[in-house]
Amino acid sequence: MIDLHIHILPGVDDGAKTVYTALQMAEMAEDTGTDIMVVTPHANMPGIYENTYDDHYKEKFRLLERTFQEQHLQIQLIQGMEIFVTDDVVEKLDRHELITLNHTRVPLVEFDFNEHFDYMQTMLQTLIDHHYQPLLAHPERYRTFRYEPEKMALLKQMGVLIQVNKSSVLGHFGRSIQKCADFFLNHGWVDVAASDAHGVRSRTPELDDLYYYLDAEYGLAETLLEDNPRRILSPAKVK
Ligand SMILES: [Fe+2]
Repeated sequence: MIDLHIHILPGVDDGAKTVYTALQMAEMAEDTGTDIMVVTPHANMPGIYENTYDDHYKEKFRLLERTFQEQHLQIQLIQGMEIFVTDDVVEKLDRHELITLNHTRVPLVEFDFNEHFDYMQTMLQTLIDHHYQPLLAHPERYRTFRYEPEKMALLKQMGVLIQVNKSSVLGHFGRSIQKCADFFLNHGWVDVAASDAHGVRSRTPELDDLYYYLDAEYGLAETLLEDNPRRILSPAKVK
């Protein structure tokens, strides 16, 4: 399986604090069927996690890759980030200060959980106008969709890709978030499911439980955890 959203790059955000925790996360993931992982640290979040694609990022990535090899982990690591959308996001992507998933045309993007729908729609359209195809992280957690999940139809018509979280789908974030994810899944609006793991105690990286649930409830496990992620990561996605 492919995990397109995981906070495993150590010491850069609220995910793995150390290489040791990152290794524990990777072992958990490998034991439960993950073979490819896109590291997606929070980035461009003003005043909190202002990570960019700089030497620090590249050094941390190389260190993690080397550690995986030394520990004989088979998981393939791929570069990415979870980009907090600001007005200047397109310029920063164009300058490669921020990066997409695997340097394709697909950025993984997030907003404040209380962000207004109109701002999200405007910024997602701006990205599309500049030939990016945004993958919106965990919209089921955003207030606007929990109250009006049907608004997602507007974003889908625009071509926005949707990623839901394991914890949302399985109900670990509560009933209303699970219901919202269920609404999206039943409408066929979800493109990717991912762990969005932050550690080894809560929000963990195993994907097997999610696979079984998606398979049993929706028949979508292979599509959301393997086929669509693989397609998104292939370099020629969008011109
Ligand atoms: Fe995340």
